[in-house]
Amino acid sequence: MTIEHLELEELASQYEKSTPQEILRLALERFPTNMAISFSGAEDAVLLDMAVQIQTPIKVFSLDTGRLHADTYRFIEQIRGFYDIELDILSPNTVDLERMVNNKGLYSFYRDGHKECCGIRKVAPLRRKLATLDAWVTGQRVDQSPETRMTLPVVQADEAFSSPDHQLVKFNPLANWSSAQVWDYIRSNGVPYNDLHNKGFISIGCEPCTQAVLPNQHEREGRWWWEDGEMKECGLHAANLTPATATAKS
Ligand code: ADX
Ligand code: SF4
Repeated sequence: MTIEHLELEELASQYEKSTPQEILRLALERFPTNMAISFSGAEDAVLLDMAVQIQTPIKVFSLDTGRLHADTYRFIEQIRGFYDIELDILSPNTVDLERMVNNKGLYSFYRDGHKECCGIRKVAPLRRKLATLDAWVTGQRVDQSPETRMTLPVVQADEAFSSPDHQLVKFNPLANWSSAQVWDYIRSNGVPYNDLHNKGFISIGCEPCTQAVLPNQHEREGRWWWEDGEMKECGLHAANLTPATATAKS
């Protein structure tokens, strides 16, 4: 374990009870220029709202898988204008994408799992982006996934995307916020939200892999519903999988 890891662990425990704004402030102080927020087009708009009140301009990127809902594309554009931010939209590698869809069709994930498709449409573009950054900020929360996000720290070394000569830090300022707190913030601060939330969707990903949920169903049940709970990380947050789980499921 390196010194940086120890310092990050200390910061994680020191900031565990801090507000998302305090954690964002820490992130921006430590990485004023080389850090970006990853925006999925869902409730994580709260992060942008908080961040632009602390610092502008702010770097934001979104992974356009090519399979997002029409509502999500509209929402992403709404957010770009509302906050007047430069939004970096990342696309998959066309050669890899064409090879997969021409060999296996457009819905192969229903047959053999989401790993390959997410790998091409999300993880590879994310890896490309993260290679240019020293830190990134996500909207992940503990309450989003009892299976994989229970021990999510507010700041961590991102082992999945670091390399020996490039250490990457990941901030999760909303880690300890509940869904109710996120929605209180959205309503009280007039934060725009994705119209899919008016149609029964809670957790929002790609259109073929996201369903609305019924009352009392956990939000994660609407994602990749044909797979086990422990599989429901797409590689963006591979660090959430325990080594045993990741090996067993890879
Ligand atoms: S996922 O890995 O299962 O798809 P989830 O939808 O819970 O992730 O979102 C958690 C966080 O991951 C978001 O708040 C955002 O920071 C990041 N994220 C997820 N999808 C995207 C995306 N398409 N583009 C950018 N960031 C994303
Ligand atoms: Fe492909 Fe579904 Fe993953 Fe989107 S969520 S990249 S459509 S497998």
